[in-house]
Amino acid sequence: MPQMTSDKPHMEEAIWDGKEAREIIDLHATRKGGLMEALHGLQHAFGYIPAESYDLLANAFNLSRAEVYGVKSFYHDFTSAPAGQHIIQICQAESCQARGSRALTQHAEEMLGITLGQTSHDGHFTLQAVYCLGNCAVSPNITLDGKAHGRVSEDRFDMLFKKVAP
Ligand code: FES
Repeated sequence: MPQMTSDKPHMEEAIWDGKEAREIIDLHATRKGGLMEALHGLQHAFGYIPAESYDLLANAFNLSRAEVYGVKSFYHDFTSAPAGQHIIQICQAESCQARGSRALTQHAEEMLGITLGQTSHDGHFTLQAVYCLGNCAVSPNITLDGKAHGRVSEDRFDMLFKKVAP
């Protein structure tokens, strides 16, 4: 079972590049809604929002570091660590919750040894929340590496997990 990890970046491929981050932020600094665009740009470039970028964002948008962190944390698209090799998303929206996604999430967390939003220490799995995949008729839904799976029971989750387990 993968070991639990902190919410800190640890993957080799996600290398902080302050010059690149500054260029991304400068591109959006004077635009309305620029903070969101800059966050999207950083997420795309690095695969997560590096903590090193908070001060740059705060300066560029005349905000406190805490305000930047607050915006980043509010949106589930923005992560604090690089994603693992396999990304599992479990829908937490209403229809899926009504059909057991909370229990499924708990099962997945126990199976993977991590909680939502975390990446396993070996970098193999990232477990994420997602809010409605548009497949409510076949709730509860998950995605595995971008592929949607509906009516996912704990047994079905285990079968999918085994396909990508190290
Ligand atoms: S609520 Fe989960 S797919 Fe719509």
